[in-house]
Amino acid sequence: MEMNSYNSEHERERLSALRRYSILDTPEEDRFDQLTKIAAYSLDMPIATLSFMDQHRQWFKSRVGTEIRQTSRIQSFCRYTLESGKTLIVPNLSQDERFSHSPIVTGNPYMRFYASTPLTTSEGFHIGTLCVMDFRPRVLLDSQIRILEHLARTALLELENDFNRRQTKETESLLRTSSRLASVGELAVGIAHEINNPLAVIQIRIDHLKRLALTGRVTNENALQCVEKVEQVVDRIHSIVRGLSTFARSGGDDPVQGNRLSAVIQDVLFFFEERMQGMGIRFEVEDLSKYEGTFIRGKTVQIAQAILNLLINAKDAVQDSTSADKWIRISFRNELSKIQIRVSDSAPSIPPEIALRLFQPFFTTKMNGKGTGLGLSVSRSLIESFGGKLYLDQRKGEKSFVIELLQG
Ligand SMILES: Nc1ncnc2c1ncn2[C@@H]1O[C@H](COP(=O)(O)OP(=O)(O)OP(=O)(O)O)[C@@H](O)[C@H]1O
Ligand SMILES: [Mg+2]
Repeated sequence: MEMNSYNSEHERERLSALRRYSILDTPEEDRFDQLTKIAAYSLDMPIATLSFMDQHRQWFKSRVGTEIRQTSRIQSFCRYTLESGKTLIVPNLSQDERFSHSPIVTGNPYMRFYASTPLTTSEGFHIGTLCVMDFRPRVLLDSQIRILEHLARTALLELENDFNRRQTKETESLLRTSSRLASVGELAVGIAHEINNPLAVIQIRIDHLKRLALTGRVTNENALQCVEKVEQVVDRIHSIVRGLSTFARSGGDDPVQGNRLSAVIQDVLFFFEERMQGMGIRFEVEDLSKYEGTFIRGKTVQIAQAILNLLINAKDAVQDSTSADKWIRISFRNELSKIQIRVSDSAPSIPPEIALRLFQPFFTTKMNGKGTGLGLSVSRSLIESFGGKLYLDQRKGEKSFVIELLQG
């Protein structure tokens, strides 16, 4: 009968609710010990425990006045509290037939009083208890029972906060991946084109060499010429593929380090410039030579991803605009200990009511699923994670998205 109820559908759901909090078998924690201590001291009880009910065992997260870490579910007193789902008060255990035969009641330590209240999740699953015990029969005042119940509630709120924090982290990392894939997808078209050209060159050279060979006209000189050309082109493909895998990576595990500004910009341009060909958009990059010795702090791949996101946004905006003179410009500013990377474009300035929402996740003005609306929000959180800033600056009659990073 007991074992059956531990296998019911409801019990399976209860267990999965419990597992969600990842609390079982974790070390003792001060924030929970504070709660059991308050319970013990304010109710003047020698024993207080905070425990969770696993499938076949009761496991104690925090305890005052006992060394027990876990006990079997069948023997536990708290299973009655979980079954009823309500606060359970037993003034004298030796006079209650559910408990009177228990070895800790009939023998050492001659337990007499028991009160416990369930830890109930927002979906109504009772996953554990906050419990107090005494060696003498007792009664509790209503106000004391309420203290116990409030402490149990506090314990559960702690668990829910942990859970929410973990979820937020997971969602953030999913968002990053999806936004990264969006910009990588955008670039894939350009890259396919970039790789196709060198492949065609290889094909032509090899065909030529083959024809010479078939007619017995291969000389060392033309063989070498062909091989050298092919080598060159293979190098080019290598660097394209290397660059792509850089951008497709999250780079989240990379170290925060000093990066040569010019190298980061070169990496980004390598992808972006090609993509801009034939679009009728002028693309200007401020001369980097005076920034030769300048280093910016952050994770290399993520800085590059953020800049690339801004460039793709600028390209989309400029393409959609009607002005005859279309341009995008990257410029730099050295401000005390910071470096600004500014991406400006010729598309109309952004009205204040939209500017307010740009950095919100999923805010997009792009139609038909063309944009996910994650680019700016994800880029901002990346940049802020290494102490930088990302913002829109439209003060001087020009629209610029600014990435500001610490030097060094
Ligand atoms: N340079 C720009 N000029 C004008 N509007 C811009 C510019 N950059 C961004 N925006 C506006 O900000 C919105 C949000 O940009 P964000 O990069 O966060 O998302 P998205 O580009 O729409 O989609 P995603 O980047 O996820 O593919 C854009 O839809 C666009 O309306
Ligand atoms: Mg975008």
